[in-house]
Amino acid sequence: MTTNQRIAVVPGDGIGKEVIPSALDVIRASGAAVEFTLFDWGADRYLADGTTIPPDGFQMLARDFDAIFVGALGDPRVPTNIHAKEILLGMRFKMDLYANVRPVRLLDASLCPLKNVAPEDVNFTVIRENTEGVYMDMGGNLKCGTPDEVATQEDINTRKGVERVIRFAFEYARANGRKKVLMSDKSNVMTFAGGLWQRVFKAVAKEYDDIQAQHMYVDALCLQMVREPRSLDVIVTNNMFGDIVTDLAAALQGGLGMAASGNIHPGRTSMFEPVHGSAPPIAGKNIANPVGSILTAAMMLAHLGLNAEAQKIESAVLAAVRERKTTVDVGSSLGTRECATWIAETVAR
Ligand code: NAD
Ligand code: IPM
Ligand code: MN
Repeated sequence: MTTNQRIAVVPGDGIGKEVIPSALDVIRASGAAVEFTLFDWGADRYLADGTTIPPDGFQMLARDFDAIFVGALGDPRVPTNIHAKEILLGMRFKMDLYANVRPVRLLDASLCPLKNVAPEDVNFTVIRENTEGVYMDMGGNLKCGTPDEVATQEDINTRKGVERVIRFAFEYARANGRKKVLMSDKSNVMTFAGGLWQRVFKAVAKEYDDIQAQHMYVDALCLQMVREPRSLDVIVTNNMFGDIVTDLAAALQGGLGMAASGNIHPGRTSMFEPVHGSAPPIAGKNIANPVGSILTAAMMLAHLGLNAEAQKIESAVLAAVRERKTTVDVGSSLGTRECATWIAETVAR
């Protein structure tokens, strides 16, 4: 008898509540030995009783679950976005999920806004540092609301934090048959933080003589992602640059509706979420693209060692894209549920 792996599910806000149930149907169709526990954390719960995440929430997730599957958090009724900060950034920071893995794969040439680009030309992975940088919320305001006001936002980079994510990128490259790791920063201007990244990258790269180490400033990387995405393999960068370049990378794949991610700490309960947000203007209309969440589900199953099920899901998504059984944002006409049902039925066959 196999025991089921336990997945905590947080659909969250907006289109998260549509795309996550759709992705759960696809996982069920794959026959994966998993069981789901749903949590209602998000804007509705926060507005009802003030709960963002219960006091022991992160310990409970780490103790009782093998993985966490999250939709999106963010709601215009909560202008401070405090619940998103406490739930989503809470998981990343308090559970120390230090590597945000964001694969970038073009499934069909028709999805790419660039001219003359084939699927094999867009196939790289961004590893984003996920626990430090300007996301640490250190800083302050002075003379608030006056003409002389001052705001600071600190960029925190620790040797331990930089080293572990760079090492993760090299290990990821090795484990996935990749040949190059490119570190991207702005060390020509941000000399203190960039200097640390540069020194640590050079030192760690020496341990991996089978992998080519490269460097590019992040502005030049944006140019390269558009002009010659084929040259890219594994990219490692800080939290903020990683956030920005992965929206650009999502566009190369057909938009935010197509992009998947995992927030990983090897050996610990990790969290998986599509790259997109809660998209309030399109929420509740059955038009959101569920593919980013479905590919995220496949990534999560592969992480849990359920490779055959993950493979079946990826093949079905590829078939859906080729047969145009997809949503309006990628130029087809199906609704969220209809697209996911087509994929689930293909997985089940
Ligand atoms: P967004 O990703 O929600 O939307 C950006 C654009 O992409 C919009 O035009 C939207 O319609 C489109 N889009 C996104 N996902 C789509 C999908 N699956 N199918 C079709 N179109 C899709 O980003 P935003 O508008 O900047 O943010 C909205 C809210 O979501 C904010 O509160 C923000 O903080 C939050 N957010 C949360 C996460 C997360 O939980 N991981 C990520 C990003 C943004
Ligand atoms: C992402 C999102 C988040 C981030 C927001 C919602 C805090 O944009 O996951 O890419 O900036 O990391
Ligand atoms: Mn983002």
